Amino acid sequence: MSVITKTSQPAVYNDGVVRGFAIMSVIYGVVGMLVGVIIAAQLTWPELNMGIEWLSYGRLRPLHTNAVIFAFGGSVLFATSYYVVQRTCHTPLFGNKLAWFTFWGWNLVIVLAVITLPLGMTSGKEYAELEWPIDLLITVTWVAYAIVFFGTIGIRKVRHIYVANWFFGAYIIAVALLHIVNSAAIPVSMTKSYSAYAGVQDAMVQWWYGHNAVGFFLTAAFLGMMYYFIPKQAERPVYSYRLSIVHFWALIFTYMWAGPHHLHYTALPDWTQSVGMVFSLILLAPSWGGMINGIMTLSGAWHKLRDDPILRFLIVSLSFYGMSTFEGPMMSIKTVNALSHYTDWTVGHVHSGALGWVGLVSMGSLYYLIPRLFGQKKMYSVPAIELHFWVATIGIVLYIAAMWIAGVMQGLMWRSVNPDGSLTYTFVESVKATFPFYVIRLLGGILYLGGMIVMLWNVIMTVRQGQVEDVPVASVNPAHA
Ligand code: HEM
Ligand code: HEM
Repeated sequence: MSVITKTSQPAVYNDGVVRGFAIMSVIYGVVGMLVGVIIAAQLTWPELNMGIEWLSYGRLRPLHTNAVIFAFGGSVLFATSYYVVQRTCHTPLFGNKLAWFTFWGWNLVIVLAVITLPLGMTSGKEYAELEWPIDLLITVTWVAYAIVFFGTIGIRKVRHIYVANWFFGAYIIAVALLHIVNSAAIPVSMTKSYSAYAGVQDAMVQWWYGHNAVGFFLTAAFLGMMYYFIPKQAERPVYSYRLSIVHFWALIFTYMWAGPHHLHYTALPDWTQSVGMVFSLILLAPSWGGMINGIMTLSGAWHKLRDDPILRFLIVSLSFYGMSTFEGPMMSIKTVNALSHYTDWTVGHVHSGALGWVGLVSMGSLYYLIPRLFGQKKMYSVPAIELHFWVATIGIVLYIAAMWIAGVMQGLMWRSVNPDGSLTYTFVESVKATFPFYVIRLLGGILYLGGMIVMLWNVIMTVRQGQVEDVPVASVNPAHA
């Protein structure tokens, strides 16, 4: 009988923290989408504000955006980046304890957001509403995240850094920069601060942040997931590795300049708005290059789409990515924006990206990840994944189609004038005309949330029948070391 001493045991991956973030992401997904459904209902029937200030639309809306973007999306990104960086670098995480610190730090930020936003404590900057003490906690957690991620890259056992890690790395650096610059503020009390910038500079900094939050948090990082999970699930190499590198540099360079398209026809200098528009139009090319690279990874294996619902989640997410990154550049054209701005068209654009791209690619990746994290070959119920896919897809189509029609209708009603120059419609008439579309959006939202609840059930059942096992670090082919 041989005795295995502690030192001779093979290194194992640090999957505990990945499990923690993966499970929390599903729970936060349900909560964030539930709040989305509630505010969609409040827009349809304002009485549902019930006269309670903490539950009013103005307070729940930032709770929704923070919950879906940072709690749901953020947890998916922590889970997948920690998983992918270990697998592609053939090494456990650098600093497992620090990784656990990021888990507790991030969850504390979320709890504080859930308390402060309904109480009306806000800095008033969209997607950066949290007050300065919470901003400091985010900064500390994010720096720890960067140390764990780049530290793991530093101790990698293979020379090459796989492209997914480039995307994750860019997102971690860019989000740190955006957060620190945009959140600079003068505190006046523990719960109130004023932005360090004023007037049009404040607006410019805010939308430089806002647009790049979309570009790096909601796009680059999820592309990192795409580059790992699609080839894995399809069992095919990335269609073109060369294209993935061009995609990376073109995307991160272009995104940084497009922010002013959020401020067309404002006090921002006109040339700045034009620069934003031009870079937004250029952005179509790298976005579609990436989408094509992802979809074409399936070449020669298209038949897999027929009976693999996880692959369907991943590939359909890319079609929505292509759709929203075609629509975005069109909306950035000033004359088009003159129609779309302030209307529900923007909300439709947001959710074709958010539900179609971010949501579906997250769900597909989690369905790949969760069974493997709990020693299982597949999820407890594959038909439930199938059901989730269809319910979510129908939900998205209802949501975005309703918002597109409503948005164009509102824009046309607001700009319509009589021969004597007076407005053809009052604002209230446009609100009344929107009512049926808000009902359809609500229906779409309920379906999408329903799919997420099915997923939560499937995850609970998978975890219950699974077990937590240590996975040894894969050995490295000497040719790649
Ligand atoms: C059940 C699913 C969802 C429903 C019913 C829903 C509903 C809503 C509603 C009613 C609004 C306010 C729109 C307005 O101000 O007129 C909103 C805003 C927003 N939601 Fe969702 N949402 C859902 C899921 C998501 C997800 C998964 C994400 C992101 C990953 C997301 C991101 C956003 C963003 C960024 C905004 C702000 C849009 C803007 O300022 O134009 N939502 N959502
Ligand atoms: C090539 C890529 C894209 C371009 C050029 C683009 C462009 C635009 C434009 C012009 C607007 C309207 C600004 C306004 O009138 O106020 C907008 C809004 C928005 N887009 Fe995109 N978009 C792109 C991709 C995406 C994707 C993939 C997502 C989501 C994952 C997304 C999320 C948003 C959000 C959240 C807003 C609303 C911001 C707000 O007012 O609160 N965009 N985008």
